Amino acid sequence: MPTSHTRNVIEVEGLTYTVDGRTILADLAIAVSKAEIVGVVGASGSGKSTLIKCLAALTSADAGSILINGRQIVGMPERKLKEVRSEVGFVFQYSALFDSMTVFENIALAPMRRLSYTRTQAMELVREKLQLVQLDGVQDYYPGQLSGGMAKRVGLARALALEPAILFYDEPTSGLDPPTARSIDELIVDMRRQLGVTSVVVSHDVPALARIADRIALLDGGKIAVMAPPQEFVRSDHPVVRQFVSADNFGIADAEKHSTDGT
Ligand SMILES: Nc1ncnc2c1ncn2[C@@H]1O[C@H](COP(=O)(O)OP(=O)(O)O)[C@@H](O)[C@H]1O
Ligand SMILES: [Mg+2]
Repeated sequence: MPTSHTRNVIEVEGLTYTVDGRTILADLAIAVSKAEIVGVVGASGSGKSTLIKCLAALTSADAGSILINGRQIVGMPERKLKEVRSEVGFVFQYSALFDSMTVFENIALAPMRRLSYTRTQAMELVREKLQLVQLDGVQDYYPGQLSGGMAKRVGLARALALEPAILFYDEPTSGLDPPTARSIDELIVDMRRQLGVTSVVVSHDVPALARIADRIALLDGGKIAVMAPPQEFVRSDHPVVRQFVSADNFGIADAEKHSTDGT
């Protein structure tokens, strides 16, 4: 049994991930405590998806230590990794639902396969998970019949199917109109409130993360370059943080700068 002297449900040190000879994550460290919501921002291609896939045991790291609920997953045999994967939920970018399966089948797949749920048990579970994400009467729809926001909710319901302790969200609001995006943000907070889950949310929307996250982390140069509560994060003088914060002023800051350049 792991010693649980720590409240950190995720504890990473020295995480290195290399692909095609390129180092994407380099000696990265991060720790996330129970029921915390941590936002992760970073330039496109900086390795955000790679990072959360390593933490969710969907991709294997080359080196380092990743403790999930106190268990070392780096170098863990596949059979054991399956158990870890059922303790975490992953909400994929673009939802990644199976198009040829109904909403019911998408959500019931893991519980029926891994926990041998009967169809009747699965129906109850699917109803409960859809209620949590505030969707009703969509069990028999195919993903192609759902709006973007509904598909995200179904993706979340599927991630909740095995009652995970940790939820990873990969750009859960990208491609949604602002009101729908806000409703998904509220849902992320709601999941923590109702289920006590720990959440790691990848996003490029710093103001949205500032509303929902306890801390925001910047991934840059393969490392967590800044990690702080929102108020402190947005004041960081790290150049990439400055880019994100000024870009989120809808270019106003940049426009002001140009107009005082004497141009
Ligand atoms: N399986 C892979 N094969 C080749 N390159 C990959 C693979 N996975 C990720 N990468 C590369 O790793 C870098 C980080 O990717 P990713 O984690 O998707 O970044 P982000 O989510 O921050 O945009 C990118 O340059 C990407 O092209
Ligand atoms: Mg990504």
